Amino acid sequence: MSGLIPKNFIDELVTRADIVEIIGRRVQLKRQGREFAGLCPFHQEKTPSFTVSPQKQFFHCFGCGTHGTVIGFMMRYEHLEFVEAIERLAAEMGLEVPRDGTPVNPHTEIFEVLARAQRYYTEALTHSAEAKAYLTHRGIGADASANYGIGYAPGDGDALAKALCQTPVSPATALAAGLLSRNSRGYYDRFRQRLMLPIRDTRGRTVGFGGRALGDAQPKYLNSPETPVFHKGRLLYGLYEVRQRNQRLTHIVVVEGYLDVIALAEAGYGEVVATLGTSITERQVEQLFRAGADEVIYCFDGDSAGKRAAWRALEQTLPLLTPGRSVRFAFLPPGEDPDSLVRRQGLAAFAATIDSAQPGSEYLLANLHPDRLAGAEERARFAGALRPLLARIHDDIYREMLTAEAAERVGLSVERMMRLMQAERAPTRAKPASPHVARPPRCDPTIKRAIALLIAAPAEIAANPPQVDLSSLTLAGSEILRQLLETLEHNPHLNTAGLLERWRTHPDASFLGRIPYEYRDSIWQLAQEGQESRLAEEFRHTLFHLASEAVIGAEYERLENTLRSGRELGPEERQRLRQLQIRMAKQKTRE
Ligand code: CTP
Ligand code: MN
Repeated sequence: MSGLIPKNFIDELVTRADIVEIIGRRVQLKRQGREFAGLCPFHQEKTPSFTVSPQKQFFHCFGCGTHGTVIGFMMRYEHLEFVEAIERLAAEMGLEVPRDGTPVNPHTEIFEVLARAQRYYTEALTHSAEAKAYLTHRGIGADASANYGIGYAPGDGDALAKALCQTPVSPATALAAGLLSRNSRGYYDRFRQRLMLPIRDTRGRTVGFGGRALGDAQPKYLNSPETPVFHKGRLLYGLYEVRQRNQRLTHIVVVEGYLDVIALAEAGYGEVVATLGTSITERQVEQLFRAGADEVIYCFDGDSAGKRAAWRALEQTLPLLTPGRSVRFAFLPPGEDPDSLVRRQGLAAFAATIDSAQPGSEYLLANLHPDRLAGAEERARFAGALRPLLARIHDDIYREMLTAEAAERVGLSVERMMRLMQAERAPTRAKPASPHVARPPRCDPTIKRAIALLIAAPAEIAANPPQVDLSSLTLAGSEILRQLLETLEHNPHLNTAGLLERWRTHPDASFLGRIPYEYRDSIWQLAQEGQESRLAEEFRHTLFHLASEAVIGAEYERLENTLRSGRELGPEERQRLRQLQIRMAKQKTRE
């Protein structure tokens, strides 16, 4: 039984692991002053801009902006999930991963009943002539059937419920797992007379099912309901199987249907996944890139629904694109899906469709009708539609590349296009960028600098922490600073990497992760030159300054409240209030 990995083991691991050695086993590194440098494994480059700092236990690429700890490196480089990365690192360091006594997963019982159900369904398939005939009719052989764990839910109505009764599983758990339903007469099977397609998480555990009717019964598909372990927006059908087959992926094709995935695998095309009947989310796209694919190819119907799905997929993919990661779009002939295409014209026809898929940038620009740019108004329309799309892209270099491509496409100079993209307000009623775009939290510049200092010199700051009270500080970003300080206070041994690692799942993680990059020429440079004590000194000054701001803020509030309560202010108080008002106003414009 595995438990949670204790936090302090993770701290130890990132602090103690020799990041230079671990990365050095995978990337050729050369010493460069206090750091090591090499060619970045995460984007194409000819001169090394990938740096590894043994002091900070942190890597950073100045070319593509990728950065992180030794755990982050393992996740990206080896395409591992967080826990897998820890296990791999521990193994390389000859350590055993300790587990807390408590079970990790409050969902253990749900996983167990799902596994039981899957065994039941695959067994039931062997007894059903009808289901076996259906598989044959669909051209699905024994291998694909076994790889995808295909099973059959009998039509009795309570076959699974009865089978589970003979095990220690409680019906309530099976209900929570989405396998049973309940009415006034008791529990009954949710899935009846259907081909059962288990949906697995990245670790291969069955978390839900898609159930296909054997004939024309409606609905054609019945899926598991959302349960504590089954979330349609986070899972991809077939991803586990792709990873099982293929350690080094180059691309992954996303299709619309479960049976398309299986049919393609049957035909020998294994790099395919499908969403669970919903449009793809950014989180799912991230999983595809994380699995090691440099290219995601969406292969949808050529009809209008397929085109809408493709556009939505593009919007969800843009934030994740970098110069090393691409997206393409393939559309099938009307009335075909990958399954029917392969069956009628063979795998080569499908492979050709994928080979000739349209690059994402081309697809994006073509949809903005760059050919209709006769007048100023049309040009403004084009710019207005392009701007929010560009705004979704996180990677600066990729955004610039796309801007340049757009400029060339419409015959403007790159400078002109950049200016158009930065124009203060869209001249047309352009759709505002979706609120989904991850924006960095608003942060007061002084606070941000303090955070940068803290991340750059945690040991020196922890050794002599400034004794100040920041509890009433209200400047934007104060909360992050307070939390960082608190973490450091309780864990004074944490270095940069350890500190950032603690933030991994926090919504502000990427904001924090980018700070070293933002201050690379100032604070980070000094840290790399070994001037941490200077940074710690500046941090202390900054904090004293912020603490006095906090006191002043409190004073301002007191005076305002007095005024509001109706009491007359004395002449000195009034002058002080005016001073403070001006100060506050200045601060607001700074933020
Ligand atoms: N889907 C669903 N519920 C439905 C219909 C479809 O959840 N009632 C989802 C399934 O994930 C399905 C996908 O949408 O795989 C695509 O639908 P479709 O193309 O109709 O299914 P196929 O997988 O191609 O199945 P088949 O070839 O058997 O028609
Ligand atoms: Mn189909």
